[in-house]
Amino acid sequence: MYKIAVIPGDGTGPEVIREGLKVLDAAGKKYKFAYETKIFDFSGERYLKTGKTVEDSDIQELKKYSAIYLGAVGHPDVKAGILETGILLKLRFSLDQYINLRPVKLYNAKFCPLRDKKPQDVDFVVVRENSEGLYKGMGEFQNKGSKDEVAIQVSYNTRRGVERCIRYAFEFCRKRNKKKKLTLCGKTNVLTYAWDLWQRTFDEVAREYPDIATDYAHVDAACMWFVKNPEWFDVIVTDNMFGDIITDLGAMIQGGMGIAAGGNINPQGVSMFEPIGGSAPKYTGKNVINPLAAICALGMLLENLGEVEASQAVENAVIKVVSKKLKSLAAGKMGYSTSEVGDLVVKYLR
Ligand code: IPM
Ligand code: MN
Repeated sequence: MYKIAVIPGDGTGPEVIREGLKVLDAAGKKYKFAYETKIFDFSGERYLKTGKTVEDSDIQELKKYSAIYLGAVGHPDVKAGILETGILLKLRFSLDQYINLRPVKLYNAKFCPLRDKKPQDVDFVVVRENSEGLYKGMGEFQNKGSKDEVAIQVSYNTRRGVERCIRYAFEFCRKRNKKKKLTLCGKTNVLTYAWDLWQRTFDEVAREYPDIATDYAHVDAACMWFVKNPEWFDVIVTDNMFGDIITDLGAMIQGGMGIAAGGNINPQGVSMFEPIGGSAPKYTGKNVINPLAAICALGMLLENLGEVEASQAVENAVIKVVSKKLKSLAAGKMGYSTSEVGDLVVKYLR
């Protein structure tokens, strides 16, 4: 019996999670697995009422779950940074979800903004370090408010943290068994402390994986290749900040935020799956947001639980909906409402 913690969150989060749970229900029936869900109401709404984000006791509770399914956090009335650090990053860090796994896969050429690129050209996975780097929150103000003010933001990279991420990426690349090519994406030419450590670690670990071809791209060049030759990539490993940035570009070349999903993975603990787009306040409550990103996140969650067949079936159903039905992957332009898209996935899954 799987125990799934559900955090619908803010904005369109609850709408897309509702569709994901419909698909979970159908998958459970078809592939005969049992589960229970519990809703956790961490959100901007709750913060505005109670001043609470995620407490240490919540983390202890969440550790008892098989997986976490998250909609979105972000509220227009809450100052930027509070919910991100208090909820999303608190969950990622406290549960030591040190990998952020973001597949970039084009399901239908007509949704790709790049000319002449086909599904086989856009099919790679970004392994983003998810526990340190610039996200560590280290730094300080000096002479705050004066004309001599200095704001320092530190990128914190530990050998242990970098190595576990790189190892995960090599293992993942081997298991994926496609091009068997791992690209390190960094900035060795300028960030000469952090990326020296990354490069050395990468080269050392690579010796243990003679079956995996290795490559390096500076992050700026990687952005260029995403647009020009996305077919060069198989698996990319990078730090937290670069991973955040390049996966938004990745989302665009796979068809947009409406389809992009990710997993915050603790290989030894509880992992959390989420659509990578935000809470989209302007579409909230209109039944127009695309739930496919959340449904793809559910597919990743199922794979993480070991329900590989069910996970594959969810992905196949999404591919059918995308190829046969949707006019667009963008909110309000799909030709179907949020709930209708969820129903279509369920129909193809059955
Ligand atoms: C993401 C988001 C988050 C991040 C924000 C909301 C903190 O952009 O999941 O990519 O920067 O990691
Ligand atoms: Mn982001």
